[in-house]
Amino acid sequence: MSRIPVSRPVMTEEMIEAASNALANERLVMGESVFKFEEEFARYVGVDHAISVSSGTDALILSSIALNVRAREVVTSTFSFIATANSIVHAGGTPVFADVLSNGNIDPKEIRTRRETAAVMPVHLYGHPADMDAIAEAAPNVKIIEDACQAHGAMYKGRKVGSIGDVGCFSFYPTKNMTVGGDGGMITTNDDRLARDLRKLRDCGRVSRYEHDVFGFTSRLNTANAAIGRVQLRHLDEWNDRRREIARRYAEKLKDIEAIRLPPLGSKDVTPVFHLFVIQCDDRDSLAKHLNENGVDTATHYPIPIHLQPAYRDAFGFAPGSYPESERLSRTALSLPMFPEMTDEQVDEVCRLIVEHYGGR
Ligand SMILES: Cc1ncc(COP(=O)(O)O)c(C=O)c1O
Repeated sequence: MSRIPVSRPVMTEEMIEAASNALANERLVMGESVFKFEEEFARYVGVDHAISVSSGTDALILSSIALNVRAREVVTSTFSFIATANSIVHAGGTPVFADVLSNGNIDPKEIRTRRETAAVMPVHLYGHPADMDAIAEAAPNVKIIEDACQAHGAMYKGRKVGSIGDVGCFSFYPTKNMTVGGDGGMITTNDDRLARDLRKLRDCGRVSRYEHDVFGFTSRLNTANAAIGRVQLRHLDEWNDRRREIARRYAEKLKDIEAIRLPPLGSKDVTPVFHLFVIQCDDRDSLAKHLNENGVDTATHYPIPIHLQPAYRDAFGFAPGSYPESERLSRTALSLPMFPEMTDEQVDEVCRLIVEHYGGR
């Protein structure tokens, strides 16, 4: 069996052909595919507007700017990819961290808002929806920016993530549940005014070709990427179904190993999409070593919580011990291989090695 990667993007002939058609026949920037992709993505998420941008980070930055977080605070979790908090800083706001639950999502009980709070930015970590009702209750009267960068298609109480808060932000980076041909992102919202502002912000602040009424960015999704994204979106549900199948297979085969804690599989309220399949164990590094030495790649999401990243320690003076659950997860979380084309045999091989590591227990 060849090495089993942690993730593997899908790029088929159909996607490559869609990109070359767009390159040959459309405007390279703001071509027809961009607008079609936005329409189709909005319909998929169940919102009135989708605004494409050049990355998930830009989706978060532009949303934060459009929601006026400048000189104000945004509450988010410290256990995420660093771009979550960076977006708040780039928008001129201050990130205020909250600790997380054992599944890695923000703990609503840890959310404290005050007059300075402009927004809460929950992350649907690993593709598992955050508890949006409890978050809205913990943070009344502030905007909610969903970081759905890892959760395309995940459902919370019958609604797709990205349609619940004031805005939803998605990434199409190559490891994500759906991708484009490189970097890309999308913002979803039901707010007409916000959508109009976001369309200007991502396109140099344009009101018309040579008239600019805000300080905008060059943050458009290029046309060939949008053409690939349209094909990817058509496969997303089937890929997410396969991810859930893989998760169930892992869970079934690993359920008797006491040393590891499995991720939640979902409930009547929550349908996760398993961007990652993350187990927790105290001997994380030695299990990873055993897997890596036997042909299985693993990853750690995330070995350093954001508040302990050098940039955040320097700027805000954080020290270890501030967010214990996030720090515990950074020592115990291990991402196993998870991608839609993963075979049952590959899942079984990963599980066999884990059982072997724990001496057959
Ligand atoms: C939770 C989260 N937020 C934000 C981002 C940023 O997205 P991008 O890499 O497209 O800028 C990512 C992914 O990379 C992410 O996983």
